[in-house]
Parts: sequence; structure tokens; C-alpha cells
Amino acid sequence: MEVSLLINEIKKHFEADILLFAEGKIKHDDLKNKFLGRKGLLADVFAKMPTFTNKAEAGKLLNLFKNELTEKIDSLSQNSVVAKNTKKLDLTLQGRKPNLGSLHLLNETQREIEEIFISMGFEIANGPQVETDFYNFEALNFPDDHPAREMHDTFFVEGDVLLRTHTSNIQIHVMQNQKPPVRIIAPGKCYRNDTPDATHSPVFAQIEALYVDENVTFTELKGTLDAFVKALFGKETKTRFRPSFFPFTEPSAEVDVTCVVCKGKGCRVCKNSGWIEILGSGMVDPNVFKSVGYNSEKYTGFAFGLGIERVTMLRYGIPDLRLFLENDVRFLKQF
Ligand code: DAH
Repeated sequence: MEVSLLINEIKKHFEADILLFAEGKIKHDDLKNKFLGRKGLLADVFAKMPTFTNKAEAGKLLNLFKNELTEKIDSLSQNSVVAKNTKKLDLTLQGRKPNLGSLHLLNETQREIEEIFISMGFEIANGPQVETDFYNFEALNFPDDHPAREMHDTFFVEGDVLLRTHTSNIQIHVMQNQKPPVRIIAPGKCYRNDTPDATHSPVFAQIEALYVDENVTFTELKGTLDAFVKALFGKETKTRFRPSFFPFTEPSAEVDVTCVVCKGKGCRVCKNSGWIEILGSGMVDPNVFKSVGYNSEKYTGFAFGLGIERVTMLRYGIPDLRLFLENDVRFLKQF
């Protein structure tokens, strides 16, 4: 028999099988084996080679056909993968919503506080977290043997290098580098060797504020803080100043706001007082001005510092400070 006749036979078979393949009735591997396999239809024809009259011509035709068939079968597999996937891909289905990140609650509160003070004309300042005794204590009028130093549970690094225990160190850096008027707030991490519990963490964040100019008065401190707490906690919030002590301010005051939970009626959070302490403040001590070379006869100023975790806990009714640091998505997602 002529080789071309045999090739035509195979072509017919192949065309029929392609239809079956398209219907999913034949697997791709089976198709390939049936035609191109070692015992396949094409191999059969190759085996008949000695019987062909023009062997060279037959060989050529057969090889061409084999290539053609191989190409078709291979391309069939690729197309069919695409075909199958297209069938499964339902473009009308709704997509899966990706989990979007958002600002951490502490950063959000910090930014909000920054915005409030920026709107009042303050600028943002920064300072080092690894600090020397001079900036963290001495220049802030903590004498060597003052008990207030011990209250700070300082982490010492080496010699007189330490992790700052508050953001008040930034006051000194700013005043060393700038003549009055100074009007800054300075957010940042602080460190104290405290055992973690619901209200303490060895790492926490504060925001420091400093305003120095001629004729800055305690009244301005009160007015500024009153405007600030109203912006942060709501218009109905009141402030109360209680005499206190800080080495770097004189006079000093701790500031309470009407309890954010009971609005002043008295509850568990405010221990029935109706008030909650939120920050420390005062008029800059002349000794601090002296340590940075400011003329305390000419300039006065106020300063205050507040804990970002504490303020955030109050605003959102968060009972335990450790929740901020655990990064449990179930907690973070609520805000
Ligand atoms: N540095 C104080 C602390 O960590 C907070 C503070 C109180 C800052 C009074 C001030 C201030 O600037 O005037 O407890």
C-alpha cells in the first residue's frame, strides 16, 4: 500500500479523535500515545517501511506528517488548558476583598494630637531616644541626688548614656538650637524599667510641648490645654489643674479632664471622682533656661507632657495597654 494512503487513514482517525478530545472523552496523554507512541499508529506505518517502493520518499512524507501531528497534539494541550480555565473563570463573580492595612491606633491618636497643635501654630520637633544624663536629667533641673531621678526607673546603656525616660529631653535640644520664640510639640518613644501590666509598659510614647517667648503666662497654658482637650475629647470636656511637682517646671500642675466614660458623674474608671488625670505641665523653671543659655529675666514659657497610650485608652475605652503591642488583628481591626 502507498504511504500517502496510510497517512490519510491516520488523518481521518485523528480528526475524529480531536472531537472526542474536545468533548473530554479522550485524555491528552492517550491521544498522544495512540498516534505518536512507541506502539502507536504512526509507529505501525514506520514499521512497514521495508515494503514501500520508494523508501526515501516515504520516509520524508512520514517524517513531515509526524512533525505536523506532534505540533498539533502539543498545541492542543495548551489550548485546552486555556479553554478549561476560561470556562471556570466567572467574570461576574464578586472579587475577594483584600485585607487593607490602616494606621495603628497609637499613631492615629498621635497624628490627631499633632494636627490640633499644628493648627494652633506649633511645630513638630524630634530628639534622640538614646540620650545622656545631661539632656534627660541634669539640664532639666534634676539635681544629682534628687529623688525624682529614682522615680524614673532608668535603663542605663553605658556610663551616663541612657534610654530617655521622657520626651522632655527634646526641650533642651530645641532650646540649644533655637532662640525664642519656640513653639513645638515633640512626640516619641520613652523607656522605663517598669514591669508590664494593664497601665505600664517599659516602652511607651509621650508628646512633649514647649512654648517660650516674652510674656508667656500660666493663663496661656490653661487656655492652650483647654482648647486641646476640647478638640481631642469633645467640646463639653472640662479641665482641672492640681498643684504638683516636676523639677523642670515651677509652678507645676497635673491636669485632669472630666471623665470620658461617665462625663463627670463618677464611675469605676475615674474612681468615682468624675475626673481623670491626663498630663503634667507647668511654667519652665528658670534653671532650665539657664542650662540652655536663655535669659530667664526676658523669657517665660510653659511645657507639658502627656502619655499617648493613656490618652488613647481613655478615648476608646481600652482596658489594657498591652493590647496595643500584641498586634492581635482581632483587636486592631476594631478601630
Ligand atoms: N516628663 C514628665 C513625665 O514623664 C511629664 C511632664 C510634666 C512634661 C510636666 C512636661 C511638664 O513638659 O511640664 O512624667
